Amino acid sequence: MAKKIGIILGSTRPGRISPAIADWVAAGIAKHPELSVEMLDLKQINLPFFDEPTIPSVAAGVSKAAVAWREKVLSLDAFIILTAEYNAGYTAPLKNALDYLKTEWANRPIFIVSYGFGGGASAAHQLSEVLTRIGTVQIEPNIAILIGDKLNANGGIDDPHTSLAIHNDELDIALNAIEAWTPPEEK
Ligand SMILES: Cc1cc2nc3c(=O)[nH]c(=O)nc-3n(C[C@H](O)[C@H](O)[C@H](O)COP(=O)(O)O)c2cc1C
Repeated sequence: MAKKIGIILGSTRPGRISPAIADWVAAGIAKHPELSVEMLDLKQINLPFFDEPTIPSVAAGVSKAAVAWREKVLSLDAFIILTAEYNAGYTAPLKNALDYLKTEWANRPIFIVSYGFGGGASAAHQLSEVLTRIGTVQIEPNIAILIGDKLNANGGIDDPHTSLAIHNDELDIALNAIEAWTPPEEK
């Protein structure tokens, strides 16, 4: 059965480059007939700062936003997280989105695509620690995009399919791993 991949866009500011990177990832997924894609744009999903009365490891959130986010995550098989590096860490909207859930992340394949002037290495490292703690299955090695030579004068990426093509093979390897992955109970 085709696996459904959610691309989580971790940045939400106007003018962000995550949609361009997400388009490139989606094009890579489109080359795999056994995979389908859904964009999980945290700007559009617009989760409030976590404000649930019960911690997610004990009980699922009850707000409309928490219920919708949980259902969305449970409806998908694997995730590709796009994270910018902000002040040597990953983004706040991304941490917030992760914190809304706990057991729902366990045993889910997740692949990190980080980006920044040093490839977002610190962001990816911190994110990886969190993903380990919440029990995800990390697909490795990550992709780390050096953005310094890819940004236009406005800080955008004009043609992600060309400028990110250098990472096509890495993306393909990760997508093959996601395709081949089977949940523990199906092994
Ligand atoms: C608040 C903030 C902090 C940043 N800190 C870093 C940093 O520590 N390292 C880095 O390589 N780039 C840093 N940058 C530059 C970002 O990598 C660059 O702006 C990138 O486009 C951000 O992703 P986005 O466009 O999806 O928001 C920072 C950008 C912002 C907005």
